[in-house]
Amino acid sequence: MNITVIGRGHVGGGLAQLWRTAGHDVQELGRDGGDASDADAIVVAVPWAQIGDALGKVQGIEGKVAIDATNAYGGRPEEFESLAHWVKSIVGGPVAKSFNLNFATLYDRIAAEPEPPGNLFAAEDDARETAEQLIRDAGYDPVYVGGLDQARVLEDSLGLVFAVAQAGLGQYFYRFAPPKTR
Ligand SMILES: NC(=O)c1ccc[n+]([C@@H]2O[C@H](COP(=O)([O-])OP(=O)(O)OC[C@H]3O[C@@H](n4cnc5c(N)ncnc54)[C@H](OP(=O)(O)O)[C@@H]3O)[C@@H](O)[C@H]2O)c1
Repeated sequence: MNITVIGRGHVGGGLAQLWRTAGHDVQELGRDGGDASDADAIVVAVPWAQIGDALGKVQGIEGKVAIDATNAYGGRPEEFESLAHWVKSIVGGPVAKSFNLNFATLYDRIAAEPEPPGNLFAAEDDARETAEQLIRDAGYDPVYVGGLDQARVLEDSLGLVFAVAQAGLGQYFYRFAPPKTR
């Protein structure tokens, strides 16, 4: 797949590396923007307040499948239901919310796990297959939480993820699974 990652920090740069290892063609864009015309999917990995600025400098994004990895850390734009809805309002194509509840500092430890760690994601129908593939190709097990109406729940769950870490577990993987017995 041809992927354009916008934001090349811990999340954007880290995912780019994982996806290249999985055989994808990944372009990383920063503050100078660029052209995403050839992309099959774009990934938004900038601080939330920079979503408008960052996407505004990238040509060729209209109608693309977009995966929003941002978190509403330290505030949020109240005019949008979620940050993913903000991305949707700019890009206009099918949107998924993913990677916002996974610690980027652990990306380089995914491959050593005996079972793929979980990755909670929400997606519009036309973004779901792409999101699931990219989640799997990053080494995670995709855990679907519903359509884009669930993006806000994922964003609002950041406090829980941090609480678990700060209560003693440190940075961690999670897994969701049905009962092993009936
Ligand atoms: N870190 C995590 O574990 C984690 C996990 C899940 C989700 N998130 C979320 O993912 C997003 C990125 O987090 P991160 O940890 O990767 O942050 P980061 O390491 O600080 O990287 C952010 C990247 O965005 C770029 N950027 C900032 N403003 C921009 C703009 N206007 N146009 C284009 N690029 C711009 C930065 O460029 P410069 O280097 O030039 O400043 C940097 O490369 C945030 O929304 C964060 O809340 C983070």
